[in-house]
Amino acid sequence: MTCRVTTDAAWAADVLRSGGLVALPTETVYGLGADATNPTAVARIFAAKQRPAFDPLIVHLASLAHWQTVATELPPRAAQLAARFWPGPLTLVLPKQSGISDLVTSGLPTVGVRVPRHPLMQAVLELADCPIAAPSANRFGRLSPTRPEHVVEQLGNVIDLILDGGPCAVGVESTIVRPDVDGVTILRLGGLSVEDIAAVAGPVRLAATESSTAPEAPGMLPQHYAPRTPIALVPAAPVAPSGSRWGLLTLRPIMCDGYVAIESLTADGDLILAAARFFAALHRLDKLGLDRIIAVEFPEHGLGRAINDRLRRAAATY
Ligand code: TXA
Ligand code: MG
Repeated sequence: MTCRVTTDAAWAADVLRSGGLVALPTETVYGLGADATNPTAVARIFAAKQRPAFDPLIVHLASLAHWQTVATELPPRAAQLAARFWPGPLTLVLPKQSGISDLVTSGLPTVGVRVPRHPLMQAVLELADCPIAAPSANRFGRLSPTRPEHVVEQLGNVIDLILDGGPCAVGVESTIVRPDVDGVTILRLGGLSVEDIAAVAGPVRLAATESSTAPEAPGMLPQHYAPRTPIALVPAAPVAPSGSRWGLLTLRPIMCDGYVAIESLTADGDLILAAARFFAALHRLDKLGLDRIIAVEFPEHGLGRAINDRLRRAAATY
């Protein structure tokens, strides 16, 4: 049986308040939400996603004014970033309030906090009147959902409700930032560019997210964001061998022989538009029964970095 789909934020808030799981639209990707103060509901998120317990959840708030409900400290650099970019695709890692259960934070002393910008999600946060824990609404390690139908495909049979807010405007997950004494560390590249963060917070360090010995961002595995079709990330598109069933993903339109399908994300190379269309294009390619998806590297600046990061992890899965 597949779950119900609605555009009614009050219904979604009611289900959340009674301990249910609701897929929620945010400007980045759809989230799988539960009341962050209800450990049983939070446990259901991990079960539905088949997510390992070491991977902490992001907690969503209605506004910056609510930060003390989840965190004990808002360092000056974090406060500046929040004032400038919330609501928006920014997650701040802050010392957690004791009231936030270890299940949410995977036992860490910190909590990831974000104020999302999607109007329906904001309405739900206001109406439910509780912090909402929400990872991306996909099975663990799989492609992130940027449309309600992506959620139905992966999780439709294990959640209570989907709140339909249309396609996500940003299209890649939030940028995760940890304030440090001498600057900030980016734990995950995402919908807010490194350049934008540096303009407000000063020196930016990029975490070595692939170090297995001391991972700074638990859950940032080298293998992630994967379609079912094997994917390769290359500097330039090769000609597809005759008789093959290959698909191609590029930033700009391209003429290249032998491909069964070509997804070119933009006419003019706009990386913000490319990010918004990125996951939907991968979902479409993944449905074609291809032998392989070839992705051509994106420019390593602005949101191109976040797209490349996801493509590298998707490619590392195979
Ligand atoms: O845009 C987004 O961030 C979306 C929407 C739904 O808000 N959410 C999202 O959640 O991408 P998820 O679960 O797919 O990714 C959350 C990641 C974890 O895998 C982990 O790397 C990091 O956030 N994280 C969460 N809490 C953390 C903490 N206390 N310290 C370090 N990293 C943390
Ligand atoms: Mg995710």
